[in-house]
Amino acid sequence: MLEELRGWIEGAAETGRGIRPAGLEEILDRAVAVPVERLLERLAEEGRRTTAAQRFLEELVDAFPDPVLLVDGGREVVRCNAAAREALAVAALPVPLDAVLRDPGLGAAVEAAILEGRTTQVDVTPPTEPARRFAARVSAAGLAGEGRGAVLVLREMSEQVMIERMRSDFVANASHEIRTPLTSLVGLIETLRGPARDDPAAREEFLALMAAEAARMQRLIDDLLSLSRIELAAGAPPEETLEPAPLLRSVVAKFVPRAEEAGVALELRIAEPLPPIVADADQMHQLVANLLDNALKYGAAGGRVEVTLDHLPRAPAEAGPVAGRPAIRLCVRDFGPGIPAEHLPRLTERFYRVDRARSREIGGTGLGLAIVKHVLRRHQGHLSIESRLGEGSRFCAWLPLPAAGA
Ligand SMILES: Nc1ncnc2c1ncn2[C@@H]1O[C@H](COP(=O)(O)OP(=O)(O)OP(=O)(O)O)[C@@H](O)[C@H]1O
Ligand SMILES: [Mg+2]
Repeated sequence: MLEELRGWIEGAAETGRGIRPAGLEEILDRAVAVPVERLLERLAEEGRRTTAAQRFLEELVDAFPDPVLLVDGGREVVRCNAAAREALAVAALPVPLDAVLRDPGLGAAVEAAILEGRTTQVDVTPPTEPARRFAARVSAAGLAGEGRGAVLVLREMSEQVMIERMRSDFVANASHEIRTPLTSLVGLIETLRGPARDDPAAREEFLALMAAEAARMQRLIDDLLSLSRIELAAGAPPEETLEPAPLLRSVVAKFVPRAEEAGVALELRIAEPLPPIVADADQMHQLVANLLDNALKYGAAGGRVEVTLDHLPRAPAEAGPVAGRPAIRLCVRDFGPGIPAEHLPRLTERFYRVDRARSREIGGTGLGLAIVKHVLRRHQGHLSIESRLGEGSRFCAWLPLPAAGA
């Protein structure tokens, strides 16, 4: 090519015929345009191949039965496969991870992957499908030119695995909860035998602490026993027919002194007349008491707790499996600090507490709402929870009534 160019220049100089643009263009064309064209073609071919490879990868990930998500440094889901779109109801990308899968444990795992490159495994429940549970493996991912992100691979737990996991978690949690007051008791006994032996004032103080710890253990064991009793009875539907209004009045009355002490106005509104319900009176008592206990324990700051009881000819969607049927609705509402949304789906799990340390301080073990859920399950009812931060929480128990004319 250079040869040709030189030839043209020499020819032009010799003949003195001046510049012949056409000839030069032809040579330049061959010298530059042709290779550039070939290069472009090659690039296009490579591009086609890369796109094909990318499509292949995408198809592969899409065919993967487990949900896979890619999260960037801004904690946004930037890619996901078909299983993730289906299981987590992902509509458009990018979307904040929080919006599709909010779980405190998961948040920490993503931070560990992005900031420290660590791989961790956590169990998560999608807010759209509270009954499903996934084991999420979270690891670091290098995002081309965009720093570090995280890859989440979720594996759905089979019912068998879920039951196994729950059973072992339960044993671990129950042992831990029992061991804590027991350890304090052992420590206090040692102090009483040793340093505090001849100190009457200290002895009184320690005995009071011991009584509190023992009461705590007793409450825990009582709760565990009632939970297992309710579960055992799950297959046998309740048979008693009872009037819901007097039952509710009697439980609320027991809480009046405590509400007064806490400076909480306890309001009770019953929309009478109400039809009788078929229910277990003891279990209904426990249900109401647990909801009231929580409202006073966690929502006292709001200064007001509202208890309402009414009858709906057709329960709304909020009533879960009771929706569309005639139902009795019992709600306990407080105006306290409320509960962060990510905790709501898990509140009824045994031993689940939003703030472990704080709940324990005020005497909670995380069994109350599990009891409520199981009581309602046995009664074919449903618990709905609504909460807004700073505004308070409303827990409603829905009990189905036989359809009119049935
Ligand atoms: N009305 C409420 N307002 C704010 N948080 C609540 C409310 N009710 C429940 N919670 C949260 O839900 C958690 C679980 O409640 P649950 O009644 O199951 O357990 P608990 O009250 O801690 O213990 P227990 O009821 O066994 O004494 C509580 O620890 C608390 O963090
Ligand atoms: Mg409670």
